[in-house]
Amino acid sequence: MTPKSLEVNMIHTGRHFLQIPGPTNVPDRVLRAMDHPVIDHRSAEFAKLGAEVLEGLRTVFQTTSPVVLYPASGTGAWEAAIVNTLSPGDRVLLFETGHFSQLWRQVGEKFGIKVEYIPGSWRRGASAAELEARLAADHDCTIKAVLVVHNETSTGVTSSIPDLRRAMNQTHHPALLIVDTISSLASIDYRHDEWEVDVTIAGSQKGLMLPPGMSFNAISEKALLANGSARLPRSYWDWQEMLKPNLSGFFPYTPPTNLLYGLREALQMLQEEGLPNVFRRHERHAEATRAAVRAWGLEIVCENPREYSSSLTAVFMPEGHDADRLRAIILDNFDMSLGAGLSKLAGKVFRIGHLGSFNALMLAGTLCGVEMGLRLAGVPHQEGGVMAALDSLAPAYRIRASC
Ligand SMILES: Cc1ncc(COP(=O)(O)O)c(C=O)c1O
Repeated sequence: MTPKSLEVNMIHTGRHFLQIPGPTNVPDRVLRAMDHPVIDHRSAEFAKLGAEVLEGLRTVFQTTSPVVLYPASGTGAWEAAIVNTLSPGDRVLLFETGHFSQLWRQVGEKFGIKVEYIPGSWRRGASAAELEARLAADHDCTIKAVLVVHNETSTGVTSSIPDLRRAMNQTHHPALLIVDTISSLASIDYRHDEWEVDVTIAGSQKGLMLPPGMSFNAISEKALLANGSARLPRSYWDWQEMLKPNLSGFFPYTPPTNLLYGLREALQMLQEEGLPNVFRRHERHAEATRAAVRAWGLEIVCENPREYSSSLTAVFMPEGHDADRLRAIILDNFDMSLGAGLSKLAGKVFRIGHLGSFNALMLAGTLCGVEMGLRLAGVPHQEGGVMAALDSLAPAYRIRASC
Protein backbone atom coordinates (compact mmCIF):
# COMPACT_ATOMS: atom_id res chain seq x y z
CA MET A 1 0.00 0.00 0.00
CA THR A 2 1.17 3.57 -0.74
CA PRO A 3 2.19 5.39 2.43
CA LYS A 4 -0.21 8.25 3.21
CA SER A 5 2.57 10.83 2.67
CA LEU A 6 3.05 9.70 -0.98
CA GLU A 7 -0.61 9.60 -2.01
CA VAL A 8 -1.51 12.00 -4.84
CA ASN A 9 -3.47 15.16 -4.16
CA MET A 10 -5.94 15.25 -7.06
CA ILE A 11 -5.44 18.94 -7.82
CA HIS A 12 -3.83 18.92 -11.25
CA THR A 13 -0.57 20.76 -11.71
CA GLY A 14 1.54 21.44 -14.80
CA ARG A 15 0.02 21.32 -18.28
CA HIS A 16 -3.05 19.38 -19.31
CA PHE A 17 -2.21 16.72 -21.93
CA LEU A 18 -4.63 17.28 -24.81
CA GLN A 19 -4.09 14.05 -26.74
CA ILE A 20 -7.38 13.85 -28.58
CA PRO A 21 -7.01 13.81 -32.38
CA GLY A 22 -7.98 17.46 -32.57
CA PRO A 23 -8.35 20.12 -31.47
CA THR A 24 -4.63 19.86 -30.82
CA ASN A 25 -2.18 21.71 -28.59
CA VAL A 26 -1.76 25.31 -29.72
CA PRO A 27 1.92 26.36 -29.53
CA ASP A 28 2.78 29.35 -27.35
CA ARG A 29 4.09 31.18 -30.42
CA VAL A 30 0.64 30.95 -32.00
CA LEU A 31 -1.14 31.95 -28.78
CA ARG A 32 1.12 34.99 -28.49
CA ALA A 33 0.55 35.93 -32.13
CA MET A 34 -3.21 35.99 -31.53
CA ASP A 35 -2.81 38.22 -28.48
CA HIS A 36 -3.10 41.32 -30.60
CA PRO A 37 -5.56 44.21 -30.79
CA VAL A 38 -8.29 43.63 -33.35
CA ILE A 39 -7.78 45.81 -36.40
CA ASP A 40 -10.15 47.30 -38.98
CA HIS A 41 -10.90 44.48 -41.44
CA ARG A 42 -11.31 47.07 -44.21
CA SER A 43 -7.88 48.60 -43.66
CA ALA A 44 -4.69 48.29 -45.72
CA GLU A 45 -3.06 46.59 -42.72
CA PHE A 46 -5.72 43.87 -42.79
CA ALA A 47 -5.43 43.40 -46.56
CA LYS A 48 -1.73 42.64 -46.12
CA LEU A 49 -2.49 40.01 -43.45
CA GLY A 50 -5.32 38.50 -45.53
CA ALA A 51 -3.23 38.29 -48.70
CA GLU A 52 -0.30 36.78 -46.81
CA VAL A 53 -2.26 33.95 -45.17
CA LEU A 54 -4.29 33.12 -48.28
CA GLU A 55 -1.04 32.83 -50.24
CA GLY A 56 0.73 30.89 -47.48
CA LEU A 57 -2.11 28.37 -47.23
CA ARG A 58 -1.53 27.26 -50.81
CA THR A 59 1.88 25.87 -49.86
CA VAL A 60 0.34 23.66 -47.19
CA PHE A 61 -2.30 22.30 -49.60
CA GLN A 62 0.49 21.92 -52.19
CA THR A 63 -1.50 23.86 -54.72
CA THR A 64 -1.34 26.94 -56.91
CA SER A 65 -5.17 27.12 -56.90
CA PRO A 66 -7.14 29.45 -54.66
CA VAL A 67 -7.87 28.41 -51.08
CA VAL A 68 -10.90 30.02 -49.43
CA LEU A 69 -11.17 30.36 -45.68
CA TYR A 70 -14.39 30.39 -43.66
CA PRO A 71 -14.95 31.37 -40.04
CA ALA A 72 -16.52 27.94 -39.41
CA SER A 73 -15.70 24.48 -38.13
CA GLY A 74 -14.87 21.69 -40.58
CA THR A 75 -18.55 20.84 -41.02
CA GLY A 76 -19.00 24.25 -42.68
CA ALA A 77 -16.27 23.43 -45.20
CA TRP A 78 -18.03 20.10 -45.98
CA GLU A 79 -21.20 22.02 -46.70
CA ALA A 80 -19.34 24.64 -48.75
CA ALA A 81 -17.82 21.93 -50.99
CA ILE A 82 -21.25 20.42 -51.62
CA VAL A 83 -23.29 23.55 -52.25
CA ASN A 84 -20.65 25.07 -54.52
CA THR A 85 -20.29 22.10 -56.86
CA LEU A 86 -23.57 20.14 -56.94
CA SER A 87 -27.24 20.45 -57.87
CA PRO A 88 -30.29 18.90 -56.19
CA GLY A 89 -30.64 15.19 -57.08
CA ASP A 90 -27.00 14.80 -58.18
CA ARG A 91 -25.50 11.35 -57.66
CA VAL A 92 -22.24 11.09 -55.69
CA LEU A 93 -20.13 8.24 -54.33
CA LEU A 94 -18.98 8.43 -50.71
CA PHE A 95 -16.83 5.77 -49.05
CA GLU A 96 -17.91 4.50 -45.65
CA THR A 97 -14.68 4.89 -43.70
CA GLY A 98 -16.13 5.65 -40.26
CA HIS A 99 -18.00 8.18 -38.14
CA PHE A 100 -16.97 11.21 -40.18
CA SER A 101 -17.92 9.73 -43.56
CA GLN A 102 -21.28 8.98 -41.94
CA LEU A 103 -21.76 12.60 -40.86
CA TRP A 104 -20.69 13.92 -44.26
CA ARG A 105 -23.23 11.62 -45.90
CA GLN A 106 -25.96 13.22 -43.75
CA VAL A 107 -24.90 16.70 -44.85
CA GLY A 108 -25.16 15.68 -48.52
CA GLU A 109 -28.54 14.01 -48.05
CA LYS A 110 -29.97 17.08 -46.31
CA PHE A 111 -29.23 18.98 -49.52
CA GLY A 112 -31.08 16.42 -51.64
CA ILE A 113 -27.93 14.79 -53.00
CA LYS A 114 -28.23 11.07 -53.86
CA VAL A 115 -25.33 9.70 -51.85
CA GLU A 116 -24.25 6.18 -52.82
CA TYR A 117 -22.53 5.09 -49.65
CA ILE A 118 -19.93 2.44 -50.50
CA PRO A 119 -19.92 0.07 -47.50
CA GLY A 120 -16.74 -0.28 -45.48
CA SER A 121 -15.60 -2.10 -42.33
CA TRP A 122 -14.23 0.99 -40.50
CA ARG A 123 -10.87 -0.83 -40.44
CA ARG A 124 -9.76 -0.17 -44.01
CA GLY A 125 -9.60 2.81 -46.33
CA ALA A 126 -11.46 3.56 -49.54
CA SER A 127 -10.95 0.86 -52.18
CA ALA A 128 -9.55 2.03 -55.52
CA ALA A 129 -10.68 -1.22 -57.20
CA GLU A 130 -14.25 -0.67 -56.01
CA LEU A 131 -14.16 2.93 -57.24
CA GLU A 132 -12.88 1.89 -60.65
CA ALA A 133 -15.61 -0.74 -60.99
CA ARG A 134 -18.38 1.71 -60.00
CA LEU A 135 -17.15 4.44 -62.35
CA ALA A 136 -16.62 2.01 -65.23
CA ALA A 137 -20.25 0.88 -64.86
CA ASP A 138 -21.51 4.47 -64.99
CA HIS A 139 -21.64 4.69 -68.81
CA ASP A 140 -23.77 7.85 -68.85
CA CYS A 141 -21.49 9.61 -66.34
CA THR A 142 -24.34 10.37 -63.94
CA ILE A 143 -21.98 10.28 -60.94
CA LYS A 144 -21.01 13.89 -60.36
CA ALA A 145 -18.48 13.53 -57.55
CA VAL A 146 -16.44 11.10 -55.50
CA LEU A 147 -16.20 12.04 -51.80
CA VAL A 148 -13.46 10.63 -49.57
CA VAL A 149 -12.26 11.27 -46.05
CA HIS A 150 -8.47 11.14 -46.45
CA ASN A 151 -7.74 10.41 -42.79
CA GLU A 152 -10.73 8.94 -40.95
CA THR A 153 -10.34 10.44 -37.50
CA SER A 154 -12.65 7.91 -35.85
CA THR A 155 -10.52 4.92 -36.86
CA GLY A 156 -6.99 6.10 -37.66
CA VAL A 157 -7.13 4.83 -41.25
CA THR A 158 -5.67 6.88 -44.12
CA SER A 159 -6.96 6.23 -47.63
CA SER A 160 -4.59 6.47 -50.59
CA ILE A 161 -5.74 9.44 -52.65
CA PRO A 162 -3.20 8.75 -55.48
CA ASP A 163 -4.66 5.23 -55.86
CA LEU A 164 -8.20 6.62 -56.02
CA ARG A 165 -7.12 9.28 -58.52
CA ARG A 166 -5.49 6.61 -60.70
CA ALA A 167 -8.72 4.60 -60.63
CA MET A 168 -10.68 7.67 -61.75
CA ASN A 169 -8.22 8.43 -64.54
CA GLN A 170 -8.23 4.79 -65.66
CA THR A 171 -11.95 5.07 -66.42
CA HIS A 172 -11.70 8.62 -67.86
CA HIS A 173 -14.71 9.46 -65.69
CA PRO A 174 -15.34 13.21 -65.31
CA ALA A 175 -16.60 13.12 -61.68
CA LEU A 176 -15.08 15.65 -59.30
CA LEU A 177 -12.79 14.35 -56.57
CA ILE A 178 -13.63 15.97 -53.20
CA VAL A 179 -11.38 15.11 -50.26
CA ASP A 180 -11.73 15.81 -46.52
CA THR A 181 -8.25 16.42 -45.07
CA ILE A 182 -9.48 17.75 -41.74
CA SER A 183 -7.19 15.46 -39.73
CA SER A 184 -4.42 15.04 -42.30
CA LEU A 185 -3.51 18.47 -43.65
CA ALA A 186 -0.11 19.57 -42.34
CA SER A 187 0.35 16.15 -40.69
CA ILE A 188 0.26 13.60 -43.50
CA ASP A 189 1.60 14.21 -47.01
CA TYR A 190 -1.19 15.65 -49.12
CA ARG A 191 -0.93 17.11 -52.64
CA HIS A 192 -4.00 18.92 -53.98
CA ASP A 193 -2.51 19.65 -57.43
CA GLU A 194 -0.42 16.55 -58.06
CA TRP A 195 -3.28 14.24 -57.09
CA GLU A 196 -5.73 16.28 -59.19
CA VAL A 197 -8.12 16.84 -56.32
CA ASP A 198 -10.96 19.22 -57.14
CA VAL A 199 -11.98 20.36 -53.68
CA THR A 200 -9.88 19.84 -50.56
CA ILE A 201 -11.61 20.41 -47.25
CA ALA A 202 -9.62 21.26 -44.11
CA GLY A 203 -9.95 22.75 -40.64
CA SER A 204 -7.76 24.91 -38.40
CA GLN A 205 -7.77 22.83 -35.22
CA LYS A 206 -5.56 19.85 -36.07
CA GLY A 207 -2.33 19.81 -38.10
CA LEU A 208 -2.42 23.58 -38.47
CA MET A 209 -2.01 23.90 -34.67
CA LEU A 210 -4.70 26.57 -34.32
CA PRO A 211 -7.80 26.81 -32.18
CA PRO A 212 -11.06 25.58 -33.72
CA GLY A 213 -12.98 28.14 -35.75
CA MET A 214 -11.63 28.23 -39.30
CA SER A 215 -12.06 25.86 -42.21
CA PHE A 216 -10.94 25.79 -45.82
CA ASN A 217 -11.74 24.76 -49.38
CA ALA A 218 -8.91 24.49 -51.92
CA ILE A 219 -10.55 24.75 -55.33
CA SER A 220 -9.33 23.34 -58.68
CA GLU A 221 -10.14 24.97 -62.02
CA LYS A 222 -12.50 22.08 -62.77
CA ALA A 223 -14.33 22.67 -59.49
CA LEU A 224 -14.66 26.36 -60.33
CA LEU A 225 -16.16 25.42 -63.68
CA ALA A 226 -18.63 23.08 -61.95
CA ASN A 227 -19.46 25.95 -59.61
CA GLY A 228 -20.77 27.91 -62.59
CA SER A 229 -23.56 25.39 -63.24
CA ALA A 230 -24.13 24.03 -59.68
CA ARG A 231 -27.69 24.86 -58.60
CA LEU A 232 -27.75 24.22 -54.86
CA PRO A 233 -28.66 27.43 -53.03
CA ARG A 234 -25.73 29.12 -51.34
CA SER A 235 -25.03 32.47 -49.80
CA TYR A 236 -22.56 32.45 -46.90
CA TRP A 237 -20.55 29.64 -48.53
CA ASP A 238 -20.56 31.03 -52.07
CA TRP A 239 -17.04 30.74 -53.50
CA GLN A 240 -17.64 33.56 -55.98
CA GLU A 241 -18.60 36.00 -53.22
CA MET A 242 -15.41 34.99 -51.38
CA LEU A 243 -12.96 34.87 -54.26
CA LYS A 244 -13.56 38.41 -55.47
CA PRO A 245 -12.57 40.28 -52.29
CA ASN A 246 -9.90 37.65 -51.53
CA LEU A 247 -7.99 38.86 -54.60
CA SER A 248 -7.04 41.98 -52.63
CA GLY A 249 -6.79 40.23 -49.23
CA PHE A 250 -10.31 41.11 -48.04
CA PHE A 251 -13.37 39.07 -47.03
CA PRO A 252 -17.06 39.50 -47.93
CA TYR A 253 -17.95 39.59 -44.23
CA THR A 254 -16.17 40.10 -40.91
CA PRO A 255 -13.18 37.73 -40.87
CA PRO A 256 -11.79 36.02 -37.73
CA THR A 257 -8.96 38.55 -37.51
CA ASN A 258 -7.14 37.13 -34.50
CA LEU A 259 -7.27 33.59 -35.81
CA LEU A 260 -5.60 34.95 -38.94
CA TYR A 261 -2.73 36.29 -36.82
CA GLY A 262 -2.43 32.79 -35.40
CA LEU A 263 -2.59 31.28 -38.88
CA ARG A 264 0.22 33.55 -40.08
CA GLU A 265 2.41 32.32 -37.23
CA ALA A 266 1.46 28.65 -37.73
CA LEU A 267 2.29 28.89 -41.45
CA GLN A 268 5.63 30.42 -40.52
CA MET A 269 6.33 27.53 -38.12
CA LEU A 270 5.46 24.94 -40.78
CA GLN A 271 7.73 26.71 -43.23
CA GLU A 272 10.61 26.80 -40.74
CA GLU A 273 10.32 23.06 -40.09
CA GLY A 274 9.65 22.21 -43.74
CA LEU A 275 6.62 20.15 -44.77
CA PRO A 276 8.62 16.93 -45.49
CA ASN A 277 10.05 17.14 -41.95
CA VAL A 278 6.58 17.75 -40.52
CA PHE A 279 5.32 14.60 -42.24
CA ARG A 280 8.37 12.56 -41.12
CA ARG A 281 7.91 13.72 -37.52
CA HIS A 282 4.28 12.58 -37.59
CA GLU A 283 5.30 9.22 -39.11
CA ARG A 284 7.94 8.74 -36.41
CA HIS A 285 5.53 9.45 -33.56
CA ALA A 286 2.84 7.27 -35.11
CA GLU A 287 5.23 4.33 -35.52
CA ALA A 288 6.42 4.70 -31.91
CA THR A 289 2.81 4.76 -30.73
CA ARG A 290 2.04 1.57 -32.63
CA ALA A 291 5.17 -0.04 -31.13
CA ALA A 292 3.74 0.73 -27.69
CA VAL A 293 0.29 -0.63 -28.57
CA ARG A 294 1.78 -3.85 -29.94
CA ALA A 295 3.93 -4.28 -26.84
CA TRP A 296 0.86 -3.83 -24.63
CA GLY A 297 -0.73 -6.65 -26.64
CA LEU A 298 -3.66 -4.45 -27.68
CA GLU A 299 -5.15 -4.32 -31.18
CA ILE A 300 -4.86 -1.37 -33.57
CA VAL A 301 -8.15 -0.58 -35.34
CA CYS A 302 -6.47 -0.03 -38.73
CA GLU A 303 -5.99 -3.45 -40.35
CA ASN A 304 -3.76 -2.51 -43.25
CA PRO A 305 -0.24 -1.26 -42.41
CA ARG A 306 -0.21 0.72 -45.69
CA GLU A 307 -3.14 2.72 -44.31
CA TYR A 308 -1.87 3.44 -40.80
CA SER A 309 -2.61 7.05 -39.86
CA SER A 310 0.27 9.29 -38.85
CA SER A 311 -2.00 11.67 -36.96
CA LEU A 312 -3.76 9.29 -34.57
CA THR A 313 -3.90 5.69 -33.46
CA ALA A 314 -7.22 4.08 -32.53
CA VAL A 315 -6.90 1.11 -30.17
CA PHE A 316 -9.40 -1.64 -29.33
CA MET A 317 -10.00 -2.43 -25.66
CA PRO A 318 -9.87 -6.10 -24.63
CA GLU A 319 -13.33 -7.71 -24.58
CA GLY A 320 -15.33 -6.75 -21.48
CA HIS A 321 -13.34 -3.57 -20.73
CA ASP A 322 -14.78 -0.10 -21.29
CA ALA A 323 -12.66 2.46 -23.13
CA ASP A 324 -14.58 5.38 -21.60
CA ARG A 325 -13.80 4.15 -18.09
CA LEU A 326 -10.12 3.93 -18.99
CA ARG A 327 -10.21 7.47 -20.43
CA ALA A 328 -11.98 8.78 -17.32
CA ILE A 329 -9.37 7.18 -15.02
CA ILE A 330 -6.53 8.65 -17.10
CA LEU A 331 -8.13 12.10 -17.10
CA ASP A 332 -8.80 12.01 -13.38
CA ASN A 333 -5.36 10.80 -12.36
CA PHE A 334 -3.00 12.14 -15.00
CA ASP A 335 -4.92 15.10 -16.45
CA MET A 336 -4.76 13.71 -19.97
CA SER A 337 -7.60 13.68 -22.50
CA LEU A 338 -7.68 10.83 -25.00
CA GLY A 339 -10.13 10.54 -27.91
CA ALA A 340 -13.36 8.60 -27.36
CA GLY A 341 -14.65 5.83 -29.59
CA LEU A 342 -17.30 7.33 -31.87
CA SER A 343 -20.72 5.93 -32.87
CA LYS A 344 -20.42 2.16 -33.27
CA LEU A 345 -16.95 2.20 -31.68
CA ALA A 346 -18.15 4.00 -28.52
CA GLY A 347 -16.72 2.35 -25.40
CA LYS A 348 -14.78 -0.15 -27.52
CA VAL A 349 -11.98 2.07 -28.72
CA PHE A 350 -9.78 4.88 -27.41
CA ARG A 351 -7.80 7.16 -29.71
CA ILE A 352 -4.35 8.60 -29.12
CA GLY A 353 -3.84 11.87 -30.98
CA HIS A 354 -0.21 12.48 -32.01
CA LEU A 355 -0.61 15.33 -34.45
CA GLY A 356 0.09 19.03 -34.58
CA SER A 357 2.53 20.73 -32.23
CA PHE A 358 4.08 17.65 -30.66
CA ASN A 359 7.46 16.14 -29.83
CA ALA A 360 9.10 12.95 -28.64
CA LEU A 361 8.90 13.77 -24.94
CA MET A 362 5.24 14.76 -25.22
CA LEU A 363 4.65 11.41 -26.89
CA ALA A 364 6.58 9.60 -24.16
CA GLY A 365 4.47 11.38 -21.52
CA THR A 366 1.30 10.50 -23.39
CA LEU A 367 2.21 6.83 -23.61
CA CYS A 368 3.26 6.79 -19.94
CA GLY A 369 -0.21 8.13 -19.10
CA VAL A 370 -1.85 5.37 -21.14
CA GLU A 371 0.34 2.64 -19.62
CA MET A 372 -0.26 3.84 -16.06
CA GLY A 373 -3.96 4.12 -16.86
CA LEU A 374 -4.13 0.56 -18.21
CA ARG A 375 -2.51 -0.66 -15.00
CA LEU A 376 -4.75 1.41 -12.74
CA ALA A 377 -7.94 0.43 -14.60
CA GLY A 378 -7.05 -3.26 -14.41
CA VAL A 379 -7.03 -3.65 -18.19
CA PRO A 380 -5.16 -6.84 -19.17
CA HIS A 381 -1.99 -5.86 -21.00
CA GLN A 382 1.73 -6.54 -21.10
CA GLU A 383 4.16 -4.03 -19.70
CA GLY A 384 6.86 -2.39 -21.78
CA GLY A 385 4.82 -0.32 -24.23
CA VAL A 386 6.59 2.90 -23.31
CA MET A 387 10.01 1.23 -23.60
CA ALA A 388 9.08 -0.14 -27.04
CA ALA A 389 8.12 3.39 -28.11
CA LEU A 390 11.40 4.83 -26.82
CA ASP A 391 13.32 2.12 -28.69
CA SER A 392 11.40 3.03 -31.82
CA LEU A 393 12.16 6.75 -31.42
CA ALA A 394 15.82 6.48 -30.41
CA PRO A 395 17.44 5.91 -33.84
CA ALA A 396 16.01 9.23 -35.11
CA TYR A 397 18.20 11.21 -32.69
CA ARG A 398 21.91 11.91 -32.84
CA ILE A 399 24.52 14.06 -31.16
CA ARG A 400 25.10 17.19 -33.21
CA ALA A 401 28.62 18.47 -33.82
CA SER A 402 27.86 21.60 -31.78
CA CYS A 403 27.12 19.59 -28.61
C1 LIG B 1 -12.18 13.86 -40.73
C2 LIG B 1 -13.12 14.87 -40.15
N1 LIG B 1 -14.05 15.42 -40.93
C3 LIG B 1 -14.92 16.33 -40.45
C4 LIG B 1 -14.89 16.72 -39.13
C5 LIG B 1 -15.89 17.73 -38.64
O1 LIG B 1 -15.21 18.90 -38.33
P1 LIG B 1 -15.77 19.91 -37.20
O2 LIG B 1 -16.01 19.13 -35.97
O3 LIG B 1 -14.63 20.90 -37.08
O4 LIG B 1 -16.99 20.53 -37.75
C6 LIG B 1 -13.93 16.19 -38.28
C7 LIG B 1 -13.85 16.59 -36.87
O5 LIG B 1 -13.09 16.10 -36.10
C8 LIG B 1 -13.03 15.24 -38.80
O6 LIG B 1 -12.08 14.68 -38.02
